[in-house]
Amino acid sequence: MNDRNQIRRWAREQRRALSPQQQQNAATATAKHALTLPEVAKAKTLALYLANDGELDPEPLLHSLLAQAKSVLLPVLHPFHQGQLLFLRYRPGQDMSANRFGIPEPVLDVQQVVPTHAVDVVFTPLVAFDDAGHRLGMGGGFYDRTLERYQGPIIGLAHDCQQHPALPAESWDKPLGIIVTPKAIKRFRC
Ligand SMILES: Nc1ncnc2c1ncn2[C@@H]1O[C@H](COP(=O)(O)OP(=O)(O)O)[C@@H](O)[C@H]1O
Ligand SMILES: [Mg+2]
Repeated sequence: MNDRNQIRRWAREQRRALSPQQQQNAATATAKHALTLPEVAKAKTLALYLANDGELDPEPLLHSLLAQAKSVLLPVLHPFHQGQLLFLRYRPGQDMSANRFGIPEPVLDVQQVVPTHAVDVVFTPLVAFDDAGHRLGMGGGFYDRTLERYQGPIIGLAHDCQQHPALPAESWDKPLGIIVTPKAIKRFRC
């Protein structure tokens, strides 16, 4: 665990050191790559996230997907199932509120919930990744739990500087199918 926390600290420092201009360039380049993926082209419903703490910002990708009339979802902390996420349909201008981690999320509206198995593609934020597709998150295990039985493509978005030589993976860690960075598309399991 200590090991994992040390890697988290290292990777968060790496991405926080990026300037706003570097962040913006990275977001644009990553969106371009992601839009070339056949999984994304054929998807109708895609889960994204809002960037926090230097994470690769999916906003340009989110806007391109909305412009293609796709359904974009954002994660919300599950109100009853601790440690799980729910994916809610997002529309620009909709009411947002900060969750208990201070991260903005859509205000919960059950009519906008899409069951996880019905999501075509899930994009996840991450703290660190490696060249086997292992993913280290913030330490809450939210995506591991939520995607435990998910069969669709799971695509990590990250800065190249978040790559680690070899992450210690645990049995519960849900691996990534694809990782997209500003420089590359790395395919693992699909
Ligand atoms: N599918 C799961 N079922 C039960 N507990 C889980 C599951 N996935 C993760 N956890 C728990 O969540 C905690 C954090 O997981 P971890 O993988 O370290 O976080 P992260 O994926 O955010 O880096 C661990 O203590 C782990 O036991
Ligand atoms: Mg994990």
